[in-house]
Amino acid sequence: MTEHAVTDQAVTETASSSHQSSKAARTDEFQGAIVHIYGDIEEADNQLPRWWLWTFFGSVLFGIGYWFFYHGWSVGALPPEEYVAALEAAAGAGGEVSEELLVGLSQDRDAVAAGKEIFIANCSVCHLDSGAGKIGPNLTDAYWIHGNSIKEIHETINAGVLAKGMPAWGPTLGPKAVQRVTAFTLTLRNKNIPGKEPQGELQSQ
Ligand code: HEC
Repeated sequence: MTEHAVTDQAVTETASSSHQSSKAARTDEFQGAIVHIYGDIEEADNQLPRWWLWTFFGSVLFGIGYWFFYHGWSVGALPPEEYVAALEAAAGAGGEVSEELLVGLSQDRDAVAAGKEIFIANCSVCHLDSGAGKIGPNLTDAYWIHGNSIKEIHETINAGVLAKGMPAWGPTLGPKAVQRVTAFTLTLRNKNIPGKEPQGELQSQ
């Protein structure tokens, strides 16, 4: 029955070749009064159900709360931060400083910012703020004396090269700060800032 009524209405609409809205032609069994007809599309004008509105406003509030919790006020840790924190806990509990931890830190804005501060306070005298080198080598070029893999850079910073004037930072700064300054140093790799002449071997990474 309903199908017939729709078809009839559509035929009338097509016959009058009008796609404009026309006033209620009928009352639908389920939708109620049809107030607009556009071609074959019939529209009723009903209030949205309570449950739908609650779900909608609830999800808007949840979205706002979520944004402030994770991004606005950074109360909650995002998955990458939780991952780095777990790796850090593992390293702190006597485990080795893993490459994953150093990579994770080098991708973490706060850790890199902290590392930069440590670098400027302790390393700039010999490597300059930019890392382009002065007494110490250019850390932004492709030439490295002690290798530029993540582990090698961490090791050089941690243990130093005492005979050549590069201090050991592990005992002075502690493991956490060494990890952060390593993370910052990793962001300098291959930036190729003109500075001190190349020293060491050309590295492929
Ligand atoms: C007193 C000067 C001095 C300070 C301060 C210093 N360095 Fe160095 N650094 C050097 C010298 C000199 C070398 C080269 C060692 C060599 O010839 O073997 C070096 C080498 C390095 C290397 C290895 C470069 C390569 O080509 O393999 C890294 C990485 C490095 N420093 C990072 C740091 C960081 C990070 C800090 C701060 C926490 C720092 N340095 C502070 C003098 C310094």
